[in-house]
Amino acid sequence: GVHAVVEFSEKECIAALQDGTRILSTNHESTVPFKTRLLTLRFNHPGDQAAAQMSVKCLKQSTIPINELIQKLSSVDSIDQQVDLLTREYQLTEENIRLRFLVCSLLKDIAAAYFPESSVKPFGSSVNTFGKLGCDLDMFLDLDGNSGRKVGKTAGPYILEYQMKQVSSERMVTQSILSVIGECIDQFGPGCVGVQKILNARCPLVRFSHQPSGFQCDLTANNRIAMRSSELLYVYGSLDPRVRALVFSVRCWARVHGLTSSIPGAWITNFSLTMMVLFFLQRRSSPIIPTLDQLKSLAGTDGKCIIEGHDCTFVTNLSKITLPENTDTPGQLLQEFFEFYGNFTFSKNSINIRKGKEQNKPEASPLHIQNPFEQSLNVSKNVNQTQLEKFVTLARDSAWTLQQNEVSHPSGTHPWGLAALLLPSVSQTAGKNKNKRKRQPASERIKSLLDSIKASKVTKTTDVFCK
Ligand code: GTP
Ligand code: MG
Repeated sequence: GVHAVVEFSEKECIAALQDGTRILSTNHESTVPFKTRLLTLRFNHPGDQAAAQMSVKCLKQSTIPINELIQKLSSVDSIDQQVDLLTREYQLTEENIRLRFLVCSLLKDIAAAYFPESSVKPFGSSVNTFGKLGCDLDMFLDLDGNSGRKVGKTAGPYILEYQMKQVSSERMVTQSILSVIGECIDQFGPGCVGVQKILNARCPLVRFSHQPSGFQCDLTANNRIAMRSSELLYVYGSLDPRVRALVFSVRCWARVHGLTSSIPGAWITNFSLTMMVLFFLQRRSSPIIPTLDQLKSLAGTDGKCIIEGHDCTFVTNLSKITLPENTDTPGQLLQEFFEFYGNFTFSKNSINIRKGKEQNKPEASPLHIQNPFEQSLNVSKNVNQTQLEKFVTLARDSAWTLQQNEVSHPSGTHPWGLAALLLPSVSQTAGKNKNKRKRQPASERIKSLLDSIKASKVTKTTDVFCK
């Protein structure tokens, strides 16, 4: 359907609107009497509707189809322009971000029925600068207003306390609150469908579809570290436009080739891919972004942030961060990202954005990316060897494809550069077991080509390791 977000300049207008809004009653259905701020505007005379819809201009809320994107990318002149175009096509629009905040506030209205002081905040890609149109809406139910004032000793003879139910763990509190709120969303939330309570996950959540906005929603509680990591990604995404450009291109490439998926499993997640891009940018001879330890050292004492015993301190004032000059172009970075990971020693090394250096892997998972805040955890523990191999093979093939296109790119609309990387043909040869034996020599050929490219960049590589 057609939906509009309406903002009012005066509070009184809202009261007037509510006064004039009726409750739908039909003979064959009953209404749950829970009023929300989602209203339906109907025409008194059905004939008027068709005429009015003709003049409605809707704003874009989803990305263009991949074939159209490939065509558009093929018509620009350089890989730099392609990377820039992809980012502009895919990134969230101002209105879409506002819509995400609005859905959070609608959810807050439901949660407030039990917890009046609670708030619902977006996190993840909706706000971390890496969101793509159509990405899910991650929400955090913040109950801090409810946990009462933690006052110290009072001088008088009495202490006044709220009577509250006690349960055995923080996790159980989160589970029971999400269970009840999930039930309310399911029973009372207009437009909220397909509600699933996934309470036994490492991070318990309620998943549902919000039909009026079209968002797939994940509601969590007690998830402050994820909030903080969204803030960290926001800082990185805001430091240099090349960060977002590279993340958007790599995420799109990974999705097209089935390296990432909306279904949970052994696939690399977008979050892990983002960590890999950040790490690569830290490893440039002249780093494009600082390490997390450097961001921590720039935070003043008032910026100190400890969550559940984990040090999550980093500077949030961007003006305090100065970076060495680096003139790498987005196209060059994309090419070298694929070379870097096409040759990375995954068997031995862990990716660590805190140190900005490879570390020895502390455990045997095929892909090890240290969780920036909960440092004993691996954010890519779910990734299996097959998926990692598929990633490496595709990275090598893509480095090779870009290398070809760098030398000469055909004129016209034939897919080239980044567009060529998004063609399914690259993946048809990569990562499929039945082709493995046949492919081996090609893969080897690409590896040796990469080695020769590397050899010609020896000075640069030495710089990287000296830093
Ligand atoms: P999309 O795929 O566009 O939704 O990206 P996203 O960044 O929103 O990822 P997702 O919805 O899977 O997770 C939301 C947020 O939770 C992320 O941005 C991270 O802050 C956090 N998160 C997700 N996965 C992990 C993980 O494995 N470890 C940690 N520490 N945080 C994670
Ligand atoms: Mg998300």
